[in-house]
Amino acid sequence: MKANLVIINIGVLYTPIIKPPIRGKDMSHILEVENAFIAIKDGKIIDFGNQDYAKYISTETEIFDAKHCIAIPGLIDSHTHLVHAGSREDEYAKLRAGVPYLDILKSGGGILGTVNKTREASFEDLYKKGYNSLNEMMLYGVTTIEAKSGYGLDLLNEVKQLEVAKKINETHPVFIKSTYMGAHAAPKEYKDNKPGYINQIIEDMKYIKNHHLADAVDVFCETGVFSIEDTRKILKEAQQLDFSVKLHADEIDSLGGAGLGVELQATSVDHLMAISDEDIKKLSKSNTVANLLPGTSFYLNKGYAPARKMIDANCALSIAGDYNPGSCPTENFQFIMHLASNELKMNPKEILNATTINPAYHLGLSESKGTIDIGKDADIVLMDASNLNYLVYHFGVNHTKHVLINGKFVVFNRQIVRKK
Ligand code: NIG
Ligand code: FE
Repeated sequence: MKANLVIINIGVLYTPIIKPPIRGKDMSHILEVENAFIAIKDGKIIDFGNQDYAKYISTETEIFDAKHCIAIPGLIDSHTHLVHAGSREDEYAKLRAGVPYLDILKSGGGILGTVNKTREASFEDLYKKGYNSLNEMMLYGVTTIEAKSGYGLDLLNEVKQLEVAKKINETHPVFIKSTYMGAHAAPKEYKDNKPGYINQIIEDMKYIKNHHLADAVDVFCETGVFSIEDTRKILKEAQQLDFSVKLHADEIDSLGGAGLGVELQATSVDHLMAISDEDIKKLSKSNTVANLLPGTSFYLNKGYAPARKMIDANCALSIAGDYNPGSCPTENFQFIMHLASNELKMNPKEILNATTINPAYHLGLSESKGTIDIGKDADIVLMDASNLNYLVYHFGVNHTKHVLINGKFVVFNRQIVRKK
């Protein structure tokens, strides 16, 4: 078979190789191929290795010299709040002065501040802001994301957010998986009637399902937001409708959200800064992935999730960005990877598994994404680095040189490739 494109002179190609979810010690396993090539046809990888690639070349084939860049699979950011309006730099000063994040929310700010702005925003303005943020993420090497609603908190505005994500997915090269998160907070109309809001969410999920606007449902299970019982009720209803489920769990207080996630066979439980030892044990015996978000700990100046303890206990981990205006305002996924190393004490191979195949697994995409392998989508990042360790060590800069999605260059020489 002849290729459309063969990338040659790859310094080192790094790819996960174990079947996901990759857990515990296995997370330190990555295949390394020196002086590699990747052959691509019709958007898929047809071969890779360090042998002779001549058999894939015809007069039609483009040959691209990677000039010793390293190659990794496209990065997968499995937890973002991509679509929202406005920003919260006013709150940043309060946080730094020591006002707790949950107190800001309780007084009608925080998430609820962004809800006001998102409700007022036009479809077009939300689309432009989300699209531009996604460009930023792609420049850092991200080729797939998950995007949550949760700043509308009524059917009209949740649907608006999800429709915006859908339009971005149709017009932007990065692939988006959408999650409905009406249970991000109770809106002001339901301030004193949380049960009423939960019933509303349960109704609204039917509409969202019927209109194919999301694949998953997420709940912010936290003190003063949604309790364990509230969360169980919402997610069980979601499962009845055939949504996959996930939770913001044990972010600030240790409520046992991770254990609930295991009980419900959630695809992931996210945050986990305050996870209990008991729940680590439960997670380790399940296929629920611990999705850690070190950027949030960094920004909120909170403790970090006990990643080493979880790896030692044989849990499967992924790392995500949590891009949002209130607890992690950054699109820089490589900085998140640096934090995974510096603060979560994960090694570069663990981090690569945690930002490619494991998130692909819990997003239900591991058949087509997350590794450089024959038959997979040609989502590939070429980084200007001599090895994987360097990528994690040299922080605060962007190592991405070129990005391919479905076999097409979407970032070339650090610039976004504009559609013709
Ligand atoms: O993942 N924890 C809840 N949700 C977001 C923050 C949202 C916000 O503050 O706007 C998070 O950290
Ligand atoms: Fe989040």
